[in-house]
Amino acid sequence: MCGIVAYVGGREAYPVILKGLKRLEYRGYDSSGVALLSDGLVVHKRKGRVSVLEEELTGRDLRSPIGIGHTRWATHGEPSDRNAHPHVSRVGRLAMVHNGIIENYVQLRQELAGKGYSFRSDTDTEVLLHFIEDIRDHNGCTLEEALRIALRRVVGAYVIVILDADNPDTLLAARKGSPLVIGIGRGEHFLASDASPIVEYTQQVVYVNDHELAIVRPDELILKNLGNERVTPWVQSLDMELAAIEKEGYEHFMLKEVFEQPRSIRDCLRGRLDMTEGRIHLRGVEEHIDRLKETQRIILLGCGTSWHAGLVAEYVFEQICRVPVEVEYASEFRYRDPVVRSGDVVIAISQSGETADTLVAIERAKEQGALILGVLNVVGSSIARLSHAGAYTHAGPEIGVASTKAFTAQLTVLIMMALRIAEARGTIGRDRHLRLLQELDAIPEKAQALLADTSAVRRVAARWARARDMLFLGRGPGFPVALEGALKLKEISYIHAEGYPAAEMKHGPIALVEEGLPVVFVATRDAFHEKLISNMQEIRARRGSVIAVVTEGDTLVPGLADEVLEVPACDPLLAPILAVIPLQLLAYHIGVEKGLDVDKPRNLAKSVTVE
Ligand code: AGP
Repeated sequence: MCGIVAYVGGREAYPVILKGLKRLEYRGYDSSGVALLSDGLVVHKRKGRVSVLEEELTGRDLRSPIGIGHTRWATHGEPSDRNAHPHVSRVGRLAMVHNGIIENYVQLRQELAGKGYSFRSDTDTEVLLHFIEDIRDHNGCTLEEALRIALRRVVGAYVIVILDADNPDTLLAARKGSPLVIGIGRGEHFLASDASPIVEYTQQVVYVNDHELAIVRPDELILKNLGNERVTPWVQSLDMELAAIEKEGYEHFMLKEVFEQPRSIRDCLRGRLDMTEGRIHLRGVEEHIDRLKETQRIILLGCGTSWHAGLVAEYVFEQICRVPVEVEYASEFRYRDPVVRSGDVVIAISQSGETADTLVAIERAKEQGALILGVLNVVGSSIARLSHAGAYTHAGPEIGVASTKAFTAQLTVLIMMALRIAEARGTIGRDRHLRLLQELDAIPEKAQALLADTSAVRRVAARWARARDMLFLGRGPGFPVALEGALKLKEISYIHAEGYPAAEMKHGPIALVEEGLPVVFVATRDAFHEKLISNMQEIRARRGSVIAVVTEGDTLVPGLADEVLEVPACDPLLAPILAVIPLQLLAYHIGVEKGLDVDKPRNLAKSVTVE
């Protein structure tokens, strides 16, 4: 997810763009840049926060009535000056910013290289810009027509805004799958990824729809579809506070990120889950597929929520890849002087890619010859640079301290990795492989359906917001989900919560059960369902209260539980992706009920870079 701001009109463009980029930094902040037209095309871009760019440009003559700006969350090409946006065309008369992922950029890049194009960056954005310019020059058509032709070839999601030195009063924009808002002023227009850079100048906005182009001049806004037909702009009035807009109307970033999960899971699958071929494409895995076929040991390393993702992945890898898997707290692994062999594979799981314990743990493993793969959300992070390869989760910036969308994106990547490795090892039948691919492809829509009605979890939160303790129980892949639910509750509501394997209760923890103690069961339909029902009866026999996450249509558990939280049916190996969502919301709503700062809980940091 990146932030885009553009302006054309009677003001100085640079101050509008700079201020707007700062408002969009929550969307991405590993590098930023601006392009202006003042005596030709001028581009300034720098790795780092927007403040780095601002400092560099202080005192410069940046007068221009038109400009485009970008703050980046890297997906292709690590954060650097050369990978920062705006990108410039070969001839040097066009500059472009982009938010999204061009899935077929490799093919486009190969075609352009075959025509003699070279590339200054590793980004998909630069490829798209050269592709557009090549079409215009090859066909002798207008830039607008070239853009329309190009976008019919493009696969993926994008918002792009182009600045053309040969049309100094016009911005050209297009949108598919990422947001673009156009603010309408008097003799001026503002373009941005959301309304937060616009709202102080105008309340009148147009939300551009998918497959639409916008031709924007100081006193003219034309919308067209890819068929070159005019589209009537629908002007709406903004009625949100600025702070709310950055959260796109949600009260907290954590809630926004929980609700982003259908999109972030889809982004994670984009360009990797090929339903036509029935295959998974993960470049980082392909590069090492021979070692992954032969390895006799996979070690999953992480901390906190990332460690829980590893515990879920352990079931998946062992079931379909038939390879021994160990899941280790990175903090324990690093001090244990572990025995690691050169044939071992270590998968480091980390949202931030900067967690000190995980970083040192993989250094130890790498020293002993293991193959290091990273499952990370931050491109170019320290763990990314230390890993031999890996796969990014593409969840976008996670602002809330509690990890939510990053966790489900980690599970999605790990499941894709396991599917590809199982296929290579020949340990999964074609039918089951295809069925899991289909199930995985359906998860974003199931998550969407699940989030359509959260009234049940809000009711449960209101009922147990004052609990002093809460137990979370599960079996199989549901057990790590129970752990994650307990961690979410602890870190967001400060209620003492513990996760346990449900079968473990009889070995001691059941002594904790007393009247009214809320016990959450992760009881989606799988091979453990009947045993979990017995465990629920044990809790009820001791007058505990049962809250159960179940598969929609479950007819057995509702008779036993005080509260039921339903999730759509799916393959048991994928169920943790959906089952965790009600638990994320339970923690969130209890935290809100208690009036706590759910985005910045006490004592916590988003990235634990200390040991
Ligand atoms: C998650 O809700 C926690 N904030 C925390 O446990 C986190 O998962 C852990 O610190 C690991 O962070 P990482 O994924 O960035 O390595």
